[in-house]
Amino acid sequence: MNDANSSELFNPSINVMEQANIPEYQALYDYSINNREAFWAEQAETLGWYKKWDKVLDESQAPFYQWFSGGKTNIVHNAVDRHLTNANRNKMAIIWEGENGQVRNYSYNGLNREVCQFANVLKSMGVEKGDVVTIYMPQIPELIFAMLACAKIGAIHSVVYGGFSTDALASRIEDAHSRVLITADGGWRRGKAIDLKTIADNAMKRSPTIEVCICVKNNDLEVEMEATRDFWYHDLVALPIASPKCGTEQLDAEDPLFILYTSGTTGSPKGMLHTHGGYSVYTSTTHRMAFDIKPEDRWWCAADPGWITGHSYIVYGPLINGATIMLYEGAPNYPYPNRWWQIIEKYGINILYTSPTAIRGLMRFGDRWPKKHDLSSLRLLGSVGEPINPEAWKWYHQVIGNGNCPIIDTWWQTETGGLMICPLPITPLKPGSATKPFFGNEITIVDDEGREVAANEEGKLIINNPWPGMARTIFKDDERYKSLYWNEVDGKWRYLAGDSAKKDDDGYIWVIGRMDEVLKVSGYRLGTAEIESALVSHPQVTEAAAIGLPHELKGNAIHTYAILAQGVAGSDELALELREHVAREMGRIAMPEDVTFVESLPKTRSGKIMRRVLKARALGQDEGDLSTLEE
Ligand code: WTA
Repeated sequence: MNDANSSELFNPSINVMEQANIPEYQALYDYSINNREAFWAEQAETLGWYKKWDKVLDESQAPFYQWFSGGKTNIVHNAVDRHLTNANRNKMAIIWEGENGQVRNYSYNGLNREVCQFANVLKSMGVEKGDVVTIYMPQIPELIFAMLACAKIGAIHSVVYGGFSTDALASRIEDAHSRVLITADGGWRRGKAIDLKTIADNAMKRSPTIEVCICVKNNDLEVEMEATRDFWYHDLVALPIASPKCGTEQLDAEDPLFILYTSGTTGSPKGMLHTHGGYSVYTSTTHRMAFDIKPEDRWWCAADPGWITGHSYIVYGPLINGATIMLYEGAPNYPYPNRWWQIIEKYGINILYTSPTAIRGLMRFGDRWPKKHDLSSLRLLGSVGEPINPEAWKWYHQVIGNGNCPIIDTWWQTETGGLMICPLPITPLKPGSATKPFFGNEITIVDDEGREVAANEEGKLIINNPWPGMARTIFKDDERYKSLYWNEVDGKWRYLAGDSAKKDDDGYIWVIGRMDEVLKVSGYRLGTAEIESALVSHPQVTEAAAIGLPHELKGNAIHTYAILAQGVAGSDELALELREHVAREMGRIAMPEDVTFVESLPKTRSGKIMRRVLKARALGQDEGDLSTLEE
């Protein structure tokens, strides 16, 4: 798949070189490694602080690092407030288009009013600093207002992706013990209404901690409103308490900003916790440097705000940098496969950041759809979420970027908060490689013993240093955080990413994929454990296993195996019912391609399912070392 050491090198154009924010990589990289704290302090200086930090990096509790400790800030102070007193005040902050063509725009000033109103509503509902508010919404501006409103008053937001379903939402509410849920009546996808409130109702039944549910009216769905629990957002903002003025809470740099649940090797999703100070510095610096952001730019990160990509590069990084952001709620091919290209032309988008899956999906419709549109406003293109295959890379580069736009392939994770490996616009590119570490980061590829492997050899990707955007812990589970991610070698802590990768002779990094039970399906991160538990929650299934197999469009596709309850016979109808059951419980993105009925599953003597064996069998490959197998 990856073509390491491919001779093809794409050099940046003179035009890109001339306007680059960072005209040179190596010297600044060396400086950032040798003077890590100074480098990050200089970046932090570009932001506003209520009180300057005492210490840039506190390593005394490693691997629980603290950044900018003693500093007082609030991410909203930088993402909204400070723009009200500078030239950005009347600049467009958000351009939103709905699938049916509705458009809403907010200037920074307008954004501030919305955020203040929402913040006052939350306060009136008793939300206080440190409370976790769960947000389950479609891609509408109110999702961003809700996130910022929480941050403004020091509450912690926990956004659950709007494509997830009942079980996924319920388990996240339960883990966070949320008292308040913000949702909407529904979303839109391919001309169909998605009934979010009903899913939320079912989730609230399963996780009864929710006392207040605030519902935004987005598409006139008939929904049930429970008298003392559910409130329409538009009713609340019409009340006198919802004043468009609200002070921003002055927080410690290390106060929590959000938790975002993500899938891991085993068990339930982990609530990765990020904080105000370091995350502000990291997301804005990476966004400014890697994407060469300019004051007049229109930036479109076509992810969902409900995933880390959206948190960092739709909402926080770009707003801190005062960019104009594009938000679109709907399918990329609705009503026709030119929808995205139409949006780029209509709004004059300068930078598009999306996933290889989306690129492959649109590429499949052929060149004639983008060719209908003038895409010459584009200056840079970005990719994230999974390795990009060279074929999709070249199409993106040639057909969408007209050969002029560098492809910024960014490797990172929910845990890292922001991008960790990526080119700058001036970096010579190799299709399929995310190229070099971002400033301040030392990344090596090691073997099982932790020794660095030779060039071109595959190994584990590790990060050898702390960085400001790093997650601080797993919500309420410090031990799990430490043992899952961190290794101490010779007194130095190393972060284990869970990916395998190689470095080529030029030091370019080629990420190969996950080494654990995490699947990247259409760029979405899902755990085999969650899919299996959804299957087993069906009364006719006693045991289940899920694996990922290569898929041309999705990167990976989910294939499952089920052992049925005694006396139940497998049939095509039952297979379909089980697939739909998973979609109902977890969300359509987790719907398996198929269910194979089996009598037994390959397991280790300690009872762990050997998914690697299932995978090898499905692919007709060698099953490898079977010494621990007990079938
Ligand atoms: C994968 C998404 C190759 C990787 C921001 C990582 C990538 C996981 C890339 C994290 C890339 C992300 N090239 N692989 N450019 N970007 N990945 O937490 O396996 O949803 O560990 O964060 O996505 O997924 P997550």
